[in-house]
Amino acid sequence: MINIHVVTRGGSSIHMQADPGRSLMETLREGGIDDIAALCGGNCSCATCHVYLENSALEIGSDEADMLDSLLHQRPNSKLLCQVEVVEGMNDLHVEIAPEE
Ligand code: FES
Repeated sequence: MINIHVVTRGGSSIHMQADPGRSLMETLREGGIDDIAALCGGNCSCATCHVYLENSALEIGSDEADMLDSLLHQRPNSKLLCQVEVVEGMNDLHVEIAPEE
């Protein structure tokens, strides 16, 4: 299990655990965090799963980079949750939900 600390748009802090093999987007939505609209279902084409991810050196794919470049609230630690697969050995993740675009 991977520990996840989430800060919602409203500022609430929530602790969750994730199973390896699933996307972080699925994990947060199934955990009841409805700030993540995920309108495209995880196909990297809506950016409604935009977050700021701390303590992570995850790579960003070219499609993901294009989507992030289109956002007003992009930061250096921006990431699309649907593009993050939870894998064994991942460190604790700190996720802040980005403002709605
Ligand atoms: S769910 Fe649409 S880009 Fe992530």
